[in-house]
Amino acid sequence: MQNRNPDIIIAGASIIDVIVRPADAGVFQTGSSPAEEIRMSVGADALNEATVLAKLGKKVRLETIIGADRAGEYIRTHCAEHGIELPEDCVREGIDTGINVVLVTADGERHFLTNPKSTLRRLTVEDIHMPFPESARIFCFASIFVFPRIGAEELRTIFSRAKSQGKIVCADMTKRKNNETVKDIACALKYVDYLLPNEEEAMLLTGADSAELAAAELKSAGAGTVVVKCGKRGCYVLSDSERMWMPAVEGARCIDTTGAGDSFAAGFIYALSEGKTLRECAAFANKCGAKAVAVAGASEWL
Ligand code: ADP
Ligand code: NA
Repeated sequence: MQNRNPDIIIAGASIIDVIVRPADAGVFQTGSSPAEEIRMSVGADALNEATVLAKLGKKVRLETIIGADRAGEYIRTHCAEHGIELPEDCVREGIDTGINVVLVTADGERHFLTNPKSTLRRLTVEDIHMPFPESARIFCFASIFVFPRIGAEELRTIFSRAKSQGKIVCADMTKRKNNETVKDIACALKYVDYLLPNEEEAMLLTGADSAELAAAELKSAGAGTVVVKCGKRGCYVLSDSERMWMPAVEGARCIDTTGAGDSFAAGFIYALSEGKTLRECAAFANKCGAKAVAVAGASEWL
């Protein structure tokens, strides 16, 4: 199904998650262990964000690549069923669709087995179709530091292009992979209106030892507004006019944090697209994050 007039463009990885819960090292002794739940779902930050936004009713275009295999077919069917628009040329011969095995311990900690040669890490600037459709007001790059071939210079190319088209530019990240510092990506950050790292990612990148200080560093490096995801503490927001903690939903059941950050980002972007205030965006993002941790899987909560 093609939207043709998307509200929102998400760029980044699309894979499949196989989530095993609970899992522990005992399997290496016994050879076979029972698990309460083993399930397959779509995964990776961009596909998770696109899925949550589509389920919330937004018209989403997903700039991503998918392998020419059964796992890729599963993702394309998923996108068709949810009305997520994919580029016509997103299927890549010779690249495996990423499949992550996510082992969730009894206390909710996640351990991943990943294939770096798969679609998980292979996106390039050339895969992203620019200029972007006029209809979309928001562009979100879901995955800073995920793709070896999209470094600071490439991010700058993508973000400056989106900005020159008048888009609101959002970006999420993962943990830095090559000791990058905030200086290294400052050239790209200056085009980002909303940066949505989690606390660990933000502190590693800046060398700061708190969410507040990390947000200040990221903001002074050029990001417009910084929203730091802080797990059960909610999020910390720093903009030109606001500096606040937005507490998490209290008493949320937490069984699997897979994709909590992506659901948070999707919620934030959704509220932004509805013209909500920064506080309202942060509160709705927290709500979506809390819903996501209560179920296994990243985007199954709605
Ligand atoms: P990531 O998934 O990127 O590591 P977090 O762990 O910070 O990000 O989770 C993202 C968001 O999900 C948090 O900012 C919060 O809104 C929500 N969240 C996470 N854990 C909980 C929890 N135990 N209770 C309520 N909300 C939570
Ligand atoms: Na994240």
